[in-house]
Amino acid sequence: MGQALRALAEHQGFQIGACANARMLSADPAYAAALGREFNSLTPENALKFGVLSPAPGVYDFTDADAVVAFAERHAMAIRGHVLVWHMQLPRWLAQAKPDRAELTATLVEHIGAVVGRYAGRISAWDVVNEAVAPDGRPRNSLWRRVIGPDYVRIAFEAARRADPQARLFYNDFGLEASAAHADAADALVARLRNEAPLDGVGLQMHLRVDNGRWLDLLQARMGRLAAMGLQVDVTELDVRVPAAPEPSAADLKQQAETYGKIVRLCLELPQCSSLTVWGVTDKYSWVPHFFPGEGAALLLDNKYAIKQAYNAVASELRRKTAGQEIA
Ligand code: G3I
Repeated sequence: MGQALRALAEHQGFQIGACANARMLSADPAYAAALGREFNSLTPENALKFGVLSPAPGVYDFTDADAVVAFAERHAMAIRGHVLVWHMQLPRWLAQAKPDRAELTATLVEHIGAVVGRYAGRISAWDVVNEAVAPDGRPRNSLWRRVIGPDYVRIAFEAARRADPQARLFYNDFGLEASAAHADAADALVARLRNEAPLDGVGLQMHLRVDNGRWLDLLQARMGRLAAMGLQVDVTELDVRVPAAPEPSAADLKQQAETYGKIVRLCLELPQCSSLTVWGVTDKYSWVPHFFPGEGAALLLDNKYAIKQAYNAVASELRRKTAGQEIA
């Protein structure tokens, strides 16, 4: 086996990350070992979401989040916070309370203050707002928007900046590489936001299917457009799912590796892209088969933690970049 991914990435100040599942970190030693060995950045997969953190108004249980953050610190990994404002995984009590505008705004600001404040100086980047744009380009119809109005986005960024002035603040979304309507609307949102709020960057989730790789022809231009606005453009949740029942085909796994390689290369070539996170350590615990029955095998390590072609494609792009720097 060659060098672990993180060793290759560290060589050039690049972050290669994975999302981390608090339960698996304590339940599966092989999982923890692979996470610490391969990645120099980590994003808690669920532990920092509002609905997971807060069982009752004003009450927080940081047990899982603290455990993931402590793991990252023990392994000298950067930590990306995910996610402060989303329309999903909200506390049940929040919708039941039927808050008015003033109450929900206060809850939003208090929530962000509590969570960002707790990890100030330790979590270096936050997904402040996630998926505020629907795939058709219209504003997402969330509790936040319905009750507070479009201003909730600006209010959230300002609260995050107050709670940790050092953390880099991101707008995070999916599908920006695929749908022009979605990408154009997200661009318009961040263009506006960057003038009125402390926005540092955009996170491209990139949950892909192996056969929609053709969209990637547009990716470079899309990333360039955001970078030209003066924004950081990181890849935050990459996975590339394949038909997996009963087994993924060799051809799909090869194409998957090419897709991973292409995205890593585009990120490495763009000075504003300095972090690429895959949405899981191993196919064994990926969210994909639960949400897309019959599909899976979307990550770099298989169910048994064996290295896949996709892993080798990522490693070889990281190596190529390092070799290029040594020659230059
Ligand atoms: O914690 C409960 C557990 O108590 C229960 O027994 C079990 C039964 O289903 O569910 C557990 O909760 C699950 C949770 O993950 C923790 O594993 C939820 O059902 C499940 O819906 C939840 O899924 C997460 C999903 O976000 C929620 O939409 C995935 O793990 C997580 O990978 C996924 O991540 C999202 C990003 O946050 C945003 N971008 C898209 C990405 C993929 O959907």
